[in-house]
Amino acid sequence: MRIAIGNDHGAVDMKNHVMGWLKDNGYEVVNFGTDSTESTDYPIYAEKVARAVVSGECDKGVLICGTGIGISISANKIHGVRCALCSEPVSTALSRQHNDANIVAMGARTIGPVMAEEIVRTFLTTEFEGGRHARRVEKIMRLDRGETLLES
Ligand code: RB5
Repeated sequence: MRIAIGNDHGAVDMKNHVMGWLKDNGYEVVNFGTDSTESTDYPIYAEKVARAVVSGECDKGVLICGTGIGISISANKIHGVRCALCSEPVSTALSRQHNDANIVAMGARTIGPVMAEEIVRTFLTTEFEGGRHARRVEKIMRLDRGETLLES
């Protein structure tokens, strides 16, 4: 599985830790940066990872900024993205089972490296359940296409 990863200046160490874990566990990793601690803007890296996932260049994405909030909001502006901001494995598993999330976001300032490993492991090994959740995800995607759910 090929994983796109991206981060801002506050998450370089966490990104390097997660990249090492991914490679050690047999994943192919495409690093979209930043690799610098010089101040930058997280939407740039959110867009790079989001477009790699939506285009099919990568199978899943991992995004990290200080809190994970800005970078997840940014990624979710790209058509086709379902990015889940996760800080523990239960919601991470449910983001796959129920929401078919294709990108996971984390906060380098809010969780530690071992929790990040567990979140990424859970995200990449949990399948979408489909069924009633497929109907709901389709409604998310209708909103994503600019459609309304409020008219019959
Ligand atoms: C950058 O200072 C910080 O705002 C960013 O990493 C993130 O926490 C935003 O949501």
